Amino acid sequence: MDNFEYHNGRLHAEEVLLSRVADEFGTPTYVYSRDALERAYLDYAQALEGRDALVCYAVKANSNLAVLNVLARLGAGFDIVSAGELERVLRAGGDPAKVVFSGVGKQPAEIRRALDVGIFCFNIESDAELDRVNTVAAEMGVKAPVSFRVNPDVDAGTHPYISTGLKENKFGIGIDTAAEVYRRAAAMDNVEVVGMDCHIGSQLTEISPFLDALDRLLQLLDTLADEGIQIHHLDLGGGLGVCYTDEQPPAPQEYIAAVLEKLGERELKLIFEPGRSIAANAGVMLTRVEFLKQNGDKNFAIIDGAMNDLIRPSLYSAYQEIIPVELREEGETKAWDLVGPVCETGDFLGKDRQLNLQPGDLLAVCSAGAYGFVMASNYNTRPRPAEVMVDDNQAYLVRERETLNDLMRGEQLLPEQG
Ligand code: LLP
Repeated sequence: MDNFEYHNGRLHAEEVLLSRVADEFGTPTYVYSRDALERAYLDYAQALEGRDALVCYAVKANSNLAVLNVLARLGAGFDIVSAGELERVLRAGGDPAKVVFSGVGKQPAEIRRALDVGIFCFNIESDAELDRVNTVAAEMGVKAPVSFRVNPDVDAGTHPYISTGLKENKFGIGIDTAAEVYRRAAAMDNVEVVGMDCHIGSQLTEISPFLDALDRLLQLLDTLADEGIQIHHLDLGGGLGVCYTDEQPPAPQEYIAAVLEKLGERELKLIFEPGRSIAANAGVMLTRVEFLKQNGDKNFAIIDGAMNDLIRPSLYSAYQEIIPVELREEGETKAWDLVGPVCETGDFLGKDRQLNLQPGDLLAVCSAGAYGFVMASNYNTRPRPAEVMVDDNQAYLVRERETLNDLMRGEQLLPEQG
């Protein structure tokens, strides 16, 4: 986490003291580094320079408007999975002509809105969805640009919940039946076949599954070309992993170089949909220690952040580093389970962490910029955290902490009797 470093024992985001952010905005709070986001995006963009390519940031990873806006200013495209994400992209100043629309269950109204604003293409995931897109486009008297998400049946070697490229997953169209779907689409009046895509999983730490998938896609692409069905772009999805603790995923440059080598002379436009590798290490979640307690042999630190604020540890047993905002010289370092106030045994952010803690301490949960706030909920009627973006020596509130009124908005009591 390059942009989150200690100076004189105190953790900073860029040039901003994180304890200052906590004092000003409270805790739990997500803090993002603009520079980290930009550099992560530019790693992709620069590796593709000189090539017809689009880096479509996967909005689901972190959809805060300020995050999207920072990327839009650099010329990023966006990968969306709902009309809601599309509206976010538009409000953040993103270019609809650089938007790809993924997801297995697009609603007619979502398809209509996407056609209205002129997105780059629909990543279609089933036969039935193709029919729906064709019907909506026909009603509007337009042609919808489509790509098919092919499920290449490769093992991404990642957590089963985030592995998506195997036959048994719900995603995409089986590679064996994809040609048939392309033929059907090619004969339709209101769709235009433009591309082929895949997304085989998330948090991949090796290049080889990507290259296996690419091989299979290229074979299919050649079969289709022989039949006169031309594919203009290839979208390899997202999935590149990040370092949470000691993983050593390839850098985007390395990954892209390997892809370009395999593509050789082919003149295909290339699309990537990175989410985690752009946002994860550009953010931390700040949380404060409320109480320390001991049950049996276990040391518990009750913190004010919980599974509703950051669910990855509870949901996937994901490991995220947890570090003190101020290093302490005195006191004892021992193993702590960091648990939140939510009434679930599964409510923890970290287990068995060697820390030197006192009540009131501030902690930073690292690598929380992706799939952090976006997966937060209001379970236990807990307002979702504030979000702050740091830019050099400035900290900007980019989303207010929710209020209890926000949480109860729209709820109604039954009418009084009699
Ligand atoms: N494109 C598609 C079609 C996707 O389904 C995803 C993520 C991405 C791109 C971005 O993948 P990334 O570069 O972020 O790996 N909540 C989980 C991750 C779920 C990923 C879902 N799809 C987590 O917290 O680990």
